[in-house]
Amino acid sequence: MKLGRLNHVGVATPSIADSIAFYRDVMGASVVTEPFDMAEQGVKVCFVHTPGAGGTEGTQIELIEPIGESAGIRAFLAKNPAGGQHHLCFEVPDIHAARDEFLAMGKKVLGEPRIGAHGTLIFFVHPRDMGGVLTEIMETPKHAAGH
Ligand code: CO
Repeated sequence: MKLGRLNHVGVATPSIADSIAFYRDVMGASVVTEPFDMAEQGVKVCFVHTPGAGGTEGTQIELIEPIGESAGIRAFLAKNPAGGQHHLCFEVPDIHAARDEFLAMGKKVLGEPRIGAHGTLIFFVHPRDMGGVLTEIMETPKHAAGH
C-alpha cells in the first residue's frame, strides 16, 4: 500500500442543508457541489471544496445525510446526534491492487469495490483494523491524475 492524496473527510450530518450553510457562512466555503442521492447507500451527499496548495485541487469534505431507513450512517448519528467525522478517504492508483494488499495484510475490507460518490471505484476498511478510523480507499479519478 502506498498512501495517496487525502481526497476527502466524510462528515455525517442530520441536515445537509444546515451543514452547507455552516461551511458557507461560518467557514467561508465558496465551492459546494449540489447534493445528490446515492440511493443504494441510502444517503444524500455533497462536497465542500477546500483550496489546495499552488492552485491544485484541495481535500474535500463529504457531507453525508441519511435518507434511507437502513443507512449505516443512521447508526452513527444515533451515537453522534449532532453529526461528526465519519471516515477518511485516500486515493490510490489501482483499486483492485489496493484491495488485494489490504486483504494480504489481514485487514477487514468491507465488500467488493463499488462506484463511489466521485464516480470511481471505492471500498471501505473496517475501523478496528485502521486505528479506529473508518477508511475509504478510492481510485484516483482519471481527470485528476497527475495533479
Ligand atoms: Co467518502
